[in-house]
Amino acid sequence: MDHFACLAPMTLFARCLSTPPVPCLLPHLTLVLPFPVPHHVSVTSSSALKLPTFDACVLPGVTTVLLLIRRHHPEMAPKRIGIVGYGHLGKYLAEKVKESPDLELAFVWNRTTSLVENDLEDKYICRDLENCSMFSPDLIVEVAHPAISKKFGPMFLEVADYLIGSPTALASQEVETSLRDAAAMQGLYIPAGAFWGTEDIMKMADEGTLKDLKVTMIKHPSCFKLQGELYSKNEQICEETAVTLYEGSVRTLCPLAPNNVNTMAAAAMAAHNLGFDGVQGCLIADPQLREWHIVEIEVTGPEIAGRKFSVKTTRQNPANLRAVTGTATYASFLSSVKRAGGKGPGVHFC
Ligand SMILES: NC(=O)c1ccc[n+]([C@@H]2O[C@H](COP(=O)([O-])OP(=O)(O)OC[C@H]3O[C@@H](n4cnc5c(N)ncnc54)[C@H](O)[C@@H]3O)[C@@H](O)[C@H]2O)c1
Repeated sequence: MDHFACLAPMTLFARCLSTPPVPCLLPHLTLVLPFPVPHHVSVTSSSALKLPTFDACVLPGVTTVLLLIRRHHPEMAPKRIGIVGYGHLGKYLAEKVKESPDLELAFVWNRTTSLVENDLEDKYICRDLENCSMFSPDLIVEVAHPAISKKFGPMFLEVADYLIGSPTALASQEVETSLRDAAAMQGLYIPAGAFWGTEDIMKMADEGTLKDLKVTMIKHPSCFKLQGELYSKNEQICEETAVTLYEGSVRTLCPLAPNNVNTMAAAAMAAHNLGFDGVQGCLIADPQLREWHIVEIEVTGPEIAGRKFSVKTTRQNPANLRAVTGTATYASFLSSVKRAGGKGPGVHFC
């Protein structure tokens, strides 16, 4: 198979003469261009790609060439997705990515590798996150635990765009600052999750007209995965009446409910003039709510002639007992993966 790379806008073409082909490491080079290649270019080094197992045939500076291919001919190169975490969401994503013509599975990493080995071919398995660049991902998606972003987030952003599936990690000022700094080269993407109206709320935050934001989550007690005092409070619920487990800042709540309040963390990032300290979160455990996860968002704007601007939305997401993640959230997350990437440096919502 011939391997080509081109420098947009189609002025320079390089023909790479690798034998055997290396499609899994350099899938970009397996593109067959829909126009003639004017001349062959001898190739000298693979150092630009930092791929020790790639033994021949890449032009110096070819990394830049590959990026340009994607920008000018996005239809030619499926977005390569690296998945970090292989639980419910990671498994769902790996399957959907493999089915999607616009996406390509670059790698899957899981804390316990054997769980991945049962399901996936060896070429997809990343055993050491420090080496994830070897799989040439365009977008790395974390769906494991907030701790991953603290340890690996800045490194991921050196390699690719980064979609942070557990944005509760950003409630730590240290993690938020390190990821915002690292997003100077590639984009940090925050999935909206169950947060409705992100764009509108961001616009109000930009203008400084967002005065208050409160996010309330109501779930069956079995759907919460809580820590510390909230765990004990939730465990003690035995009557059929709803109990307010928490009401206060999203910053304090995130470490107590790291798996449940990603939506609130996304809200705190979008409402950047209020932030994690200003946005209010409320968790209600309702033993009667056996089939739904409910998210209410209350936005308050400026007061004009004694009347306050306000918006209230209620999202009812079908969910089974004990499900931490509601059914619609999986599809919503996949659509975030499809929308993420390619917007350049900075923080983006998807
Ligand atoms: N943003 C969103 O809309 C959204 C939606 C659903 C889930 N999530 C988040 O995505 C993550 C995964 O969700 P899930 O439903 O697949 O959970 P899960 O429990 O089914 O899977 C989590 C996976 O990560 C691994 N893991 C747990 N702690 C880890 C750690 N400290 N280091 C490394 N690996 C660890 C587990 O072994 C498991 O393989 C969670 O953090 C969850 O809060 C976000």
